[in-house]
Amino acid sequence: MDKDRKLIIAGNWKMNKTVAEALDLVKGLKRDLSQVKEVDIVVCPPYTALSDVSREIIDSNLRLGAQNMSEQSVGAYTGEIAAEFLKEFLVRYVILGHSERRQYQEESDALISQKAATAHAASLKPIICVGEKLEDREADRTQAVVEGQLTGSLAGLNADQMLETIIAYEPVWAIGTGKTASSDQAQEVHAFIRSKLEQLFDASVAKQVRIQYGGSVKPANARELMSQPDVDGALVGGASLDVRNFSDIVTNSI
Ligand code: 13P
Repeated sequence: MDKDRKLIIAGNWKMNKTVAEALDLVKGLKRDLSQVKEVDIVVCPPYTALSDVSREIIDSNLRLGAQNMSEQSVGAYTGEIAAEFLKEFLVRYVILGHSERRQYQEESDALISQKAATAHAASLKPIICVGEKLEDREADRTQAVVEGQLTGSLAGLNADQMLETIIAYEPVWAIGTGKTASSDQAQEVHAFIRSKLEQLFDASVAKQVRIQYGGSVKPANARELMSQPDVDGALVGGASLDVRNFSDIVTNSI
């Protein structure tokens, strides 16, 4: 598929996989995906598996991401994980503002923008998640919600930082439900996000930033989604927990 932007497909394992299970999964991915050069492939295990997975993939084309981090750099924040600690394990990407954290930990756009600044200060690339709930879509508020999330969570980033940031559009109603946004629905919101990036930054930034789609991505729908002009990759939940499914998503997307 011909796009100026390199595809980036990330597996968000969420709260799944013991260390042993994580190693099994990445060994399989290494085996099946070693020849893939067209896609940036990222795995985001739970913190407890970062060290072992990092060692396992060090000489491979797989890259490491984390699922969250603290907005603080160090100090008395019990239970939190600092960007610098992630760097020790050669983590390059960090998912910020996933809808599950927005919902269960009540993360706000303001907090997400602080986390994004902290990530950039440590040269980690944030994957910033946005997306509307079902009631927003039904009330025709998708664009207003996504616009608010983008404006709030990207506040304070400069153009250079934005170029090192990835946006993940994940309609909440499509996460873990088996209901994928149709490729037209995804494309419409992705194009809207790109137009907002042009307003917030400039046309050149908007053209270069990669926008992933997330929400029930599977081997069967990956190609169609990735063929949309503004869809530059995927953030995969459930299907990233299985070697065959995740490998097929990557290879079907090329
Ligand atoms: P599913 O692929 O399980 O729908 O999850 C999507 C997601 O939340 C990825 O971050």
